[in-house]
Amino acid sequence: MNVKKALSGTRRRTICSITLIGISLVSWNVATAVDDVPKGDHGAATMEYQTKTLERLMPTVDLSRAPAGFDAVVWQAFIPQDNALTRQRVALGRKLYFEKRLSADATVSCATCHDVTRGFTDQLAVSEGIRDQHGRRNAPTTLNVALLQTLFLDGRSPTLEHQAQMPIINPIEMGMPDGQAAVAAIQNDAEYKTAFQRAYGRPVNYEDIGRAIAAFERTLIFVDSPFRRFLAGDERAISPEARQGWVLFNQKARCVSCHPMNTSNPLGTDNRFHNIGVSARHHDFDVLAKQALKALNEDPSEQKLDELALSTDMSELGRFMVTKRRSDIGAFRTSILLNIGITPPYMHDGSIETLWDVMDHYNKGGEANLFLDGGIEPLALTEDQIDQIVAFLFALTDERFAVENRRQFERQRAQARKKRPLRDNDMAFRLKLAFEQ
Ligand code: HEC
Ligand code: HEC
Repeated sequence: MNVKKALSGTRRRTICSITLIGISLVSWNVATAVDDVPKGDHGAATMEYQTKTLERLMPTVDLSRAPAGFDAVVWQAFIPQDNALTRQRVALGRKLYFEKRLSADATVSCATCHDVTRGFTDQLAVSEGIRDQHGRRNAPTTLNVALLQTLFLDGRSPTLEHQAQMPIINPIEMGMPDGQAAVAAIQNDAEYKTAFQRAYGRPVNYEDIGRAIAAFERTLIFVDSPFRRFLAGDERAISPEARQGWVLFNQKARCVSCHPMNTSNPLGTDNRFHNIGVSARHHDFDVLAKQALKALNEDPSEQKLDELALSTDMSELGRFMVTKRRSDIGAFRTSILLNIGITPPYMHDGSIETLWDVMDHYNKGGEANLFLDGGIEPLALTEDQIDQIVAFLFALTDERFAVENRRQFERQRAQARKKRPLRDNDMAFRLKLAFEQ
């Protein structure tokens, strides 16, 4: 696999005809992200606790058919031929997802940064890897990633199989010198020996580590939100305020132009890349672009690209690092909006703390820069309208996370009330004038 494949990105365009029909409601909830969650390395819930929580979240997974509501043919198109979903592969991938021995100092697993109890993210601005190193990017959720057309916020990875191999060898994430070192860390473990044989009919190897984790990730389909019931015809599934927010989302606020939300595209992303003026706050794109071209010329490997994107200022160039196209400077993939309530903080750099602050960002038309997307301009939304859109966004969380979603709503609202300046009119403009600084 190489980055060029990610560029073309057409292989999985069939997504447009996914149809959601069935709705399964789960009547209980998982205690997550609360104070009594036992914490392990790097502030993540212990792997034991996460494993148990996952069992309660997904007591069974039926691999014999597409997830409820998804068209069988379309679902199959997301699964590479050499990695058909089997019970053995999913079970192996699930074990590997929580496996800290895959990191250089055995303190970090995928679940450290994509924590089951924190919306499958770490709820940190930027992630913490081995030796407490911090990168420049916010960890997106692993929920529903099976339905994305490219992986990583700049789309530099074409498949889940390929993506899963990258963090293991990234020096600030799991820090293994190479894939062979990861294999060496687990290949003498009798359980793994048997599990790899059963899943792939081969001894432990790096490619199959990526495959098994990808197979497991394909079971993380969490799309049963109140909004999904609303779309299916249950008007009262979401509050009147959220219904008002949905209208604004499609009209005055124009969110829908990049975040399509409908039965055939449930994620809320157009899978494209836009500069919405987040990174422009801190960086001189011109200088960075020059540096990037030089560095990528010297070492065009995908591993180098991964390192530059994660741990240098060049991170802010976004999609440009992959395409080297001027129009992609500062552009990132439109985020998934499903489950958005439980995955703060927001944006590729985790620089925005609450959904109210996200709304302030859009309302003032982003941060001006040469490469700003034409779809971003001041919206003149009132405070009430902002509350309505935020209410809508919180209606996009899967019912199984309802308790954490409620907790986040209260927490973010309290924080936003404290931090956002009081105004004497109801126009929500946050731009400070020079004399106020
Ligand atoms: C140290 C923290 C950390 C670890 C460990 C980690 N990730 Fe991530 N993950 C991130 C960050 C940060 C990003 C965003 C990077 C980017 O887009 O450049 C990310 C991105 C992803 C994405 C892409 C999601 C999207 O929306 O495109 C997937 C899938 C993913 N990780 C899965 C995994 C798997 C599987 C593992 C274990 C093999 C893992 N991660 C280990 C922090 C981590
Ligand atoms: C021009 C395209 C575009 C428009 C219009 C747009 N968005 Fe976005 N949105 C994006 C992109 C691209 C990102 C990711 C940016 C980043 O990570 O820096 C994003 C990120 C977000 C995030 C953060 C997601 C996360 O997990 O970090 C939220 C929430 C969001 N958008 C909501 C909205 C709402 C609400 C509206 C309407 C007011 C809107 N967007 C309008 C393209 C757009």
